[in-house]
Amino acid sequence: MVAENGLTEGRYGFDLEIPADVPDGVQALLNRRVIRKYKTNPISEQTMALLLSAAQSAPTKSNLQQYSIVIIRDPEVRNAVSELVPSMPWVRNAPVIAIFLGDVRRIRRLAEIRGHTYLNNNADTFMNAAVDAALAMQCFITAADYLGLGTCPISYVRNRIDDLAEILDLPDGVFPISGLCIGYPDDAGYVSMRLPQKVVVHQDLYNDDDLETDVKDYDDRNHERFALTPTKQRHTDKYGVLEKCTWSENVARQLSLPERAGFADYLKRKGINLD
Ligand SMILES: Cc1cc2nc3c(=O)[nH]c(=O)nc-3n(C[C@H](O)[C@H](O)[C@H](O)COP(=O)(O)O)c2cc1C
Repeated sequence: MVAENGLTEGRYGFDLEIPADVPDGVQALLNRRVIRKYKTNPISEQTMALLLSAAQSAPTKSNLQQYSIVIIRDPEVRNAVSELVPSMPWVRNAPVIAIFLGDVRRIRRLAEIRGHTYLNNNADTFMNAAVDAALAMQCFITAADYLGLGTCPISYVRNRIDDLAEILDLPDGVFPISGLCIGYPDDAGYVSMRLPQKVVVHQDLYNDDDLETDVKDYDDRNHERFALTPTKQRHTDKYGVLEKCTWSENVARQLSLPERAGFADYLKRKGINLD
């Protein structure tokens, strides 16, 4: 049985034909959204242990487990981290902040302990560690959603990466991937619309011949539902405010200025080789 049952309408702005019987877990994924407003209720140690078990249940390249997670509850550390991102008050207000880190240090240390040479300080290892950390964060997020918690990843903590590394005492071989705000939602958030599968998914061969028209349709659907207010339009000082600032215009604006150009330099200084 297949159906156009409304479950994908929020994600795409139109309904897809999908199986009629969609398990609750998949429905929850289709309904997923970031939450940036939290109640002050604390999150118990037991709940955190459960969420972290879910995070560690993520797949990890060769079971190398090249990531670490710093859980921040101490108000002093929290304040120091949230001061790095003053434009995002949800960081200050989240009962718990987690920082997901790529960690190629642990295995380097284990190689030394085991008396083996370590010959994989390279871009592939960096990538594997970044992917491991990201997958762990997503498993954490999915489990948090199931438990009625809300989350929001925070890449902005990397804007002042040296300050973050100092606050968290990050050693060589360890690099921030993303922060994650966690708390009980004080806001329903909303399902944000994604590009149609036609743009993101390629059948057998990569083909983006229809990009412009497909994205124009997406831009129109998105604008109709979530017109970008002037405060959500990027770099208005440079490009001005538009009556209709579409998703494609806004992302092109965003990436027209370099973001976090110092990251490769940070990695190099932390002993991570990207060759
Ligand atoms: C790696 C990563 C970094 C992000 N960084 C931030 C951030 O610094 N601040 C923020 O408010 N949201 C951040 N987000 C949340 C995205 O803005 C959000 O996922 C996106 O707008 C889509 O919304 P949705 O998750 O509700 O579908 C981040 C998301 C990811 C995956």
